[in-house]
Amino acid sequence: MSRDFLQSITRLRSGYIVRVKIKSRKSTFLRCNAGGRLFPIVVWSLVGCLLLLQLCSFTYQRNVQSGGTHLSISQQTQFRELEEVEKENIQLPPPRKRSPRAAKRKPKRPTTLIDEFLDESSPLRRVFFPGQRTVVDPRKNYGNDTYYYRPGRMWLDTEGNPIQAHGGGILYDSRTKMYYWYGEYKDGPTYHAHKKGAARVDVIGVSCYSSKDLWTWKNEGIVLAAEEKNETHDLHKSNVLERPKVIYNEKTGKYVMWMHIDDANYTKASVGVAISDFPTGPFNYLYSKRPHGYDSRDMTLFKDDDGVAYLVYSSDKNSELHIGPLNKDYVDVTETMRRILVGQHREAPVLFKHQGTYYMITSGCTSWSPNEALAHASESIMGPWETIGNPCIGGNKNFRLTTFFAQSTFVLPLSGLPGLFIFMADRWNRADLRDSRYVWLPLTVGRPLDRPIEYNFGFPLWSRVSIYWHKKWRLPYRR
Ligand code: DGJ
Repeated sequence: MSRDFLQSITRLRSGYIVRVKIKSRKSTFLRCNAGGRLFPIVVWSLVGCLLLLQLCSFTYQRNVQSGGTHLSISQQTQFRELEEVEKENIQLPPPRKRSPRAAKRKPKRPTTLIDEFLDESSPLRRVFFPGQRTVVDPRKNYGNDTYYYRPGRMWLDTEGNPIQAHGGGILYDSRTKMYYWYGEYKDGPTYHAHKKGAARVDVIGVSCYSSKDLWTWKNEGIVLAAEEKNETHDLHKSNVLERPKVIYNEKTGKYVMWMHIDDANYTKASVGVAISDFPTGPFNYLYSKRPHGYDSRDMTLFKDDDGVAYLVYSSDKNSELHIGPLNKDYVDVTETMRRILVGQHREAPVLFKHQGTYYMITSGCTSWSPNEALAHASESIMGPWETIGNPCIGGNKNFRLTTFFAQSTFVLPLSGLPGLFIFMADRWNRADLRDSRYVWLPLTVGRPLDRPIEYNFGFPLWSRVSIYWHKKWRLPYRR
């Protein structure tokens, strides 16, 4: 008996898995070894090692799939509830009558749920933008229904006003032990600056809401206000201020806000920076610039465990993303920058980290209309980033192809619940932007990918990022 061992070792995120192919061929070594006594020892040691490695990898994968290594049994049960697939069966209304002239002008094509979503006069409008009667009002005692998020419904603050924090993000401030939700305050009329321009609301400012439980939000006011008079100012109301994000700098003791600054035609394509001594502002606007000399539109910030913060922005006319570290004070970028997702035309980036791996979710570029989200993963924040597929689960096909009729804006890690995150998205109401809704859903990292990536030699290199549709859901510790 003679054999040759061909080993190929593939590094997995979870550790090492050893793949061994055994090919028959004559071995000089074995022929020279009188009696071949060494051979069985070598074979059995190798087999033993392999079994041990497989066992370790299997145990690790199971831990990852159950959401982390430190979850209690009851938390795992609650995770499973959040990972239940909830279906949506929305019936399309019967086709509406059209005048013969209208029919001639525009031939009829089948109506889809997405058409109905975009059609302001659709009877289905209320499914996506439910009215006053269904508001979520955390001041009320809902008994067993308290603490339930209801994606798409109006959500009131502690004064009973609809929360205005669009394109936002959340900062957990360990000094005050509070969550702060910053976003675009859009409570003004929607109009078009030009015939072909996107719908807009004049800049009012960046709002801030505070909360201890992520459900009851107190309005802390406008923490960075628009400029009313000076037309040359970045924050003049005729401009664009979108997607504000705030991080805390331990070294300087400042809260630092970055945002997308633009003119009404989106040609300035810059980032703006503001700082404050307090999470509730007021923020002092410093300046705007084109980071690394490039156009920058949708953007986000990410602060890593080692305190280094990064700016991620859509660039080169939204055809790619750029990523680079901020300087030590977080008030500027450094010279280092990498182009990522080149040619993929993505925007609305959000970034988070789980067990040493970086994940990103992005949207396509279709103005205020919803489109398909994609998840991306990387071992290193500076890339290379790999696209791993659509993270949306449940609802129905249209829900999954439109990110549940919403667009990513932030992913919030939940301390004490490794592997569980809140995915925050905006359901834009392009006819009345102030009435855009929040779609918060549970996001988990764990399961294997739906499809293996072609060049991974058949091994799952990444875990699946999953966002589960729920009409209502609550966090595991809210029981
Ligand atoms: C899509 C972006 O994600 C939004 O933040 C906003 O800029 C709209 N485009 C404007 O059309």
